[in-house]
Formats: sequence, C-alpha cells, structure tokens
Amino acid sequence: MLKKLPNDYYKPDEDTFFIADYIQNETGRSALDVGTGSGFLASVLSGKFEFVVCTDVSIAALKKAHESVSNCICCNSADAINYDFDLAVCNLPYLPSDGIDDAAVDGLEEGLGVPTEIIKSAGRTVRKGGKFIFLTSSLANHEELIRRTESLGFSSRIVAKKKLFFEELLLVESLKL
Ligand SMILES: C[S@@+](CC[C@H](N)C(=O)[O-])C[C@H]1O[C@@H](n2cnc3c(N)ncnc32)[C@H](O)[C@@H]1O
Repeated sequence: MLKKLPNDYYKPDEDTFFIADYIQNETGRSALDVGTGSGFLASVLSGKFEFVVCTDVSIAALKKAHESVSNCICCNSADAINYDFDLAVCNLPYLPSDGIDDAAVDGLEEGLGVPTEIIKSAGRTVRKGGKFIFLTSSLANHEELIRRTESLGFSSRIVAKKKLFFEELLLVESLKL
C-alpha cells in the first residue's frame, strides 16, 4: 500500500495539539501511540502511563520520537505488537487520496483505506474495557470509519470537535467491548 518510505517526520500541528489536550486526562498502566511522528503524543502519555510504546512506518519519525520515548517500533500500525494496552491513540492519516504520496496524511479512498487498516491492527492490541482514541476529520467518511470500528468490537462516539478553516477535526473515543 505504501509506495515509498517517508524520509521526514510530521511536525506537531493543530491536530496533534487537539488530540494531546484530550489524552492528557487519560491514566492507566500501558499505552500505545500508533503513527507517532515526532513522538509528541507518546511523550504526553509517558507522563501518565508506566509503559508507553510508539510505532511508525517512518524511520525518520522514530529517530525523532526516540529522543523522548524509549519503546519505538518500526512497523505497519501495531502489526509487530502482541500486547493488551489500556489505551491506544492515533492521529490518523485521514485525507482522501488516490495513492500514498505522503504517509503522514494520505488515507486513500474517502480517507478510509489507511485508517481502517490501522484501526484493525491496533484495535487488536487494546484490552477488553480499554480505549482507542483516534483523530479523523469531516473531510473523511468518518461515519463509515466509526461503523467499521464498531464492527471490530468497539463502542464508539465522537467526544470532541474542532473547526478549522477547511474542515472539522473529530476525536473518536472507542471502548473495547
Ligand atoms: C498525521 S501524522 C501524526 C503524527 C503524530 N502522531 C502527531 O500527532 O503529530 C500520521 C503519522 O502516521 C504515520 N503512519 C502512516 N501510516 C502508518 C501505518 N500504516 N502504520 C504506522 N504509522 C503510520 C505517519 O508516518 C505519520 O507519522
């Protein structure tokens, strides 16, 4: 699916700060940040959780993230991980696209292709009763993404919205049943 490996990392932006503000209230023992980019969200989680793991497909991202987070894994979503986390988070690459030119933002058809695969893989690592918090947008088919997440055994709701110039950022909280 990924045409080329990114040689840079995603710098924290409004979407990063929006999800960071929300997850800073979460506590528990173990947390996973999928598609960590600079490691910003994983660092926020490190202050609240004893055991934090982050993943990315970008080595450049993981090199940056490793400056502040110990457990960094290069893999697709959470494919290399066999663990039951209390919390998983992901600032998804949600933009509708024909292909993946920029892995940080391109989400394929209706902004669903990449997010669905990420959620399938990472959702498997959330313990029963645990949470998966992810960020999508009004530009993506978020209703269908929520339906697909629910079909994987989660109960989901939009917990926060933020209007930007061209879109509305949507934070979805999914509880593993
Ligand atoms: C929108 S950026 C978010 C980065 C960072 N979490 C933040 O909030 O600033 C999406 C990140 O997901 C990574 N990514 C894209 N597809 C992925 C996949 N299939 N598995 C793991 N990471 C992926 C990208 O390399 C990028 O770092």
